[in-house]
Amino acid sequence: MTDGTFTTTGVFVCFEGGEGAGKSTQSEALAGWLTELGYAVRLTFEPGDTPVGKQLRGIVLDPATGALSPRTEALLYAADKAEHVDTLVRPALDRGEVVITDRYVDSSIAYQGAGRVLDQAEVARLQRWATADLRPHLTVVLDVAPADGLGRFEGRDRIEAESVEFHERARQAFLAFAAADPDHYLVLDARAPVDEIAAAVRQRVQPLLGQATR
Ligand code: TMP
Repeated sequence: MTDGTFTTTGVFVCFEGGEGAGKSTQSEALAGWLTELGYAVRLTFEPGDTPVGKQLRGIVLDPATGALSPRTEALLYAADKAEHVDTLVRPALDRGEVVITDRYVDSSIAYQGAGRVLDQAEVARLQRWATADLRPHLTVVLDVAPADGLGRFEGRDRIEAESVEFHERARQAFLAFAAADPDHYLVLDARAPVDEIAAAVRQRVQPLLGQATR
C-alpha cells in the first residue's frame, strides 16, 4: 500500500498475519518499548475496540451467527473499521500519538477477499472508503503456516473454523501485499524467537518516529 495524503505527526503501525502468529504479543512488546521511550502510544485492535465495534465483533466471530453472505461479512468488518478510524485511530494520530493496531484493512482484503473469494479490488475499495483511505506508515506481517498457527486454538471462532485452504489463501494475500510495497511492509517469520522479531520491528519503527508526541 502507498501512503495517501497522510500529514499528521502521529505514526500508524499495523500488525497483520494469520491466526496464532503472535500479533498481540508483538504489538504489546512494541507498545511497551515506545512507552518506555516516552512516546504517547495507543494500542488497539480490529474488530471490536469501540462500543459498537464490540457488538459487531460478536456478530462476525460468534459461531452461533452461522453462515453469512460474504458481502454482509465484508460490510460488518467495514463498519467496525469506520467506527474505529473515526473515533479512535484518527483522533489519536492527530494528537501525534503512535497508534499500533492488531489487524486493519489488509485483514479484510485477505479474509473477505482472498479467503471468501470476493473480488480483492472491490473489498479494498470498500475498506478504503470505510477508513477514509487512512493508510499505515508500516505494516508488519507475521508470517505463519496455517497448520502451525491454527494448532494453537481450541475453541474456534467463525473465521478460525474455516479450512486450511481458506487460511492459506489469506496468508498468500498478506505476502503479496508486502511484496508489492516493500517500503511500507516488513515480513517476519512468526516462528522466530519472540525477542528477535521484536528487535526487527523496533529497527523498522525507529526511523518513523519523527515528530511523534513524547
Ligand atoms: P483476531 O483473532 O486477531 O482477534 O481477529 C478476529 C478474526 O477476524 C480473525 O480471524 C481475522 C478476522 N478478520 C477478518 O476476517 N476481517 C477483518 O477485516 C479483520 C480485522 C479481522
